[in-house]
Amino acid sequence: MIEIDHVTKTYQTKKGPINALDDVSLSIEKGQIYGIVGYSGAGKSTLLRLINRLETPSSGRVVVEGQNLGALKEKDLRQQRQNIGMIFQQFNLFKAKTISDNIRYPLKLTKQYSKAEIERRVDELLAFVGLSDKKDDYPNQLSGGQKQRVGIARALATNPDILLCDEATSALDPETTDEILKLLKDINEKLNITIVIITHEMEVVKSICDEVAVMEKGRVVEQNNVFDLFTSPKHPTTKRFVHSVLNDDIPKEINIANRKLYRFIFNHQQILEPILSQTGRTNNVDFNILYGSITELTDRLFGNLLIEAVGEPNNIYNALLEIKQHGVDVREVEGFEN
Ligand SMILES: Nc1ncnc2c1ncn2[C@@H]1O[C@H](COP(=O)(O)OP(=O)(O)O)[C@@H](O)[C@H]1O
Ligand SMILES: [Mg+2]
Repeated sequence: MIEIDHVTKTYQTKKGPINALDDVSLSIEKGQIYGIVGYSGAGKSTLLRLINRLETPSSGRVVVEGQNLGALKEKDLRQQRQNIGMIFQQFNLFKAKTISDNIRYPLKLTKQYSKAEIERRVDELLAFVGLSDKKDDYPNQLSGGQKQRVGIARALATNPDILLCDEATSALDPETTDEILKLLKDINEKLNITIVIITHEMEVVKSICDEVAVMEKGRVVEQNNVFDLFTSPKHPTTKRFVHSVLNDDIPKEINIANRKLYRFIFNHQQILEPILSQTGRTNNVDFNILYGSITELTDRLFGNLLIEAVGEPNNIYNALLEIKQHGVDVREVEGFEN
């Protein structure tokens, strides 16, 4: 659906050139919800602007639905842009236009729809985002979540195949964020729209993305499906992002000195409790769960528990061996790991 092929983007500024993107390659498949995470300045917004052709790459190719954007004529480019909707952190609504006029705007621009068609489409979109009663209101009469719903309706007006979201939930409170994410998931599933989400919030990635790329200083430093990225992050930046939502620090209230501590990492197929009590019993070892979390990741469970083993070293060794045979990843915790 979207192919980013060795793309670099350099901005010339008074202070010299800035490499916003440095040899980025990505492949986004049809129907995916693709997350791009990174701290501020990583190059995320630049990447989105290349996909909808608001910017051109300094080198490399951006191919959308088989069309090399760099080779398109202005008219075809306009057509292709209609196929890509975009929503923003600050909503970017026209403040002086009513809600329905905001949604009407992109439809009018195309000059392809009759007046009646436009009215039907506006009503349909308002109903879809749950704002039929706000039709004649102005943006400043709406809450943040409602404004973003208008943004979404406007972005969907011309029936795009792709929806780009630039920090679309970053200005919203957690509850409203959840509602908007649910709506995006619906759009992906019911309307079969490929969604690219850029964000610095790992919660967003965790709750709706299929695939994720981590960006830093204009480069993609890691790319994987959400489950594998969260359960075995490789790059330090990825680890920091994952750490921010998994809550896997050992709290300082837990004294870890002089104890035999292990981290058990397991997934949905390994229901830990019976494994622990059975192997403990048969090997004469007591397992003591000190801390940890079980997280739902793309409908699969991921457990990360801090466990103390009490018993003879030989028995502990044998018990851990058995647990590993169940596929649980057992890692020894040495001293103060944080
Ligand atoms: N139009 C521009 N002119 C000059 N520098 C820019 C421009 N747009 C972005 N940059 C620079 O490119 C880098 C990446 O920016 P951006 O893509 O906005 O990052 P992000 O969205 O990840 O915060 C930053 O250093 C930013 O200052
Ligand atoms: Mg940005």
